[in-house]
Amino acid sequence: MQIADFALERYFARWEFAVEHLLCASDVEGWRMADLLALADPEARARWESLRLGYSEAPGDPLLRAEIAGLYDGLEADDTLVFSGAEEAIFCLLNVLLGPGDHAVVTWPGYQSLHEVARAAGADVTLHELREPDGWALDVERLVGSFRPATRAVVVNAPHNPTGMLPSPAEWQALGEACRASGVRLVADEVYRLLEHDGRAPLPAGADLDPTFVSIGVLSKSFALAGLRIGWLASRDRDLLARCAALKDYTTICAAAPSEVLGLIALRARDVVLARSRAIVGPNLERMDAFLAARPGFASWVRPAAGSVGFPRLAPDLDADRFAADLVEASGVLLLPGSTFGHPGNHVRVGLGREDFPVALERLAAHLDARAIA
Ligand SMILES: Cc1ncc(COP(=O)(O)O)c(C=O)c1O
Repeated sequence: MQIADFALERYFARWEFAVEHLLCASDVEGWRMADLLALADPEARARWESLRLGYSEAPGDPLLRAEIAGLYDGLEADDTLVFSGAEEAIFCLLNVLLGPGDHAVVTWPGYQSLHEVARAAGADVTLHELREPDGWALDVERLVGSFRPATRAVVVNAPHNPTGMLPSPAEWQALGEACRASGVRLVADEVYRLLEHDGRAPLPAGADLDPTFVSIGVLSKSFALAGLRIGWLASRDRDLLARCAALKDYTTICAAAPSEVLGLIALRARDVVLARSRAIVGPNLERMDAFLAARPGFASWVRPAAGSVGFPRLAPDLDADRFAADLVEASGVLLLPGSTFGHPGNHVRVGLGREDFPVALERLAAHLDARAIA
């Protein structure tokens, strides 16, 4: 298989564990093991203590799958398939769905594997560009206008990384209906779902819109458990899930057994887990908004509607690549330049999920002062 380097992951490989403050991480600050275990109900606690470290069930622990199914409207455990992270789910799904001669439409800028794996599978990919002057909104008419007879899938990441875009319920329904009418499968990457801001309700999950549509989920982002590497596909199309399971036999076979039990604990206590994430991300969103309002000579943004990231545009006299390089070298704070998404705008991704966000922002402010940037 020929596949281009994952630019964002290569950038993180260089910097993630070498800097003092990650001001661009997409996940929410991970749970401490002891705090998570303290949430376990007696049954899950007993499973944890008696866990044997053998292989686990290839489709995923049945109790975990039942909890995942509970995130959707009327899905059953067998409508879910557990993977090692959303990344593995994307890899298997797009390889099963797409091949030479197929066409896919994928939102962009975005998480590279959503379009790169599609391309590596042999599909012709149309990037559906989200544009800042439109508030990064999905343009359903333009998107549907790019359908061809060979279009097999539309891949939409919403809430969106890196912009924080969330379609309106009407846009989402319209896209779902257009896909259904054209026999095109909607693949919804919803890894930031349940982190909606400013009182917005979550959109109906993709898997709940149509029996052929697929939702991609993970415990890394809204659930703040990236280290578990537990992700999933959810869909009523069990034949599709079976084909993905057959490909997973060649990647990881099954998820890590301890992660599955810890994931079960987290999903059973999801109100507590999600409340903690919101209590971190919400105030950080306000801080960033105030920071940008106070420093128009630095950057401005379309305020994210959901998720744990945002995508401010730097002032024209600053260059995003050079600024991020100078910031990390001089002040130990990491921002992610938009070039890692292949995006030509002068943007940086900001992550709102870390507890050291206020300190990182102070460092950024001191750096701007030192460089006389207003
Ligand atoms: C939109 C999107 N999908 C999938 C993933 C992959 O999630 P994970 O690394 O937990 O597998 C990410 C991670 O940043 C993401 O932003």
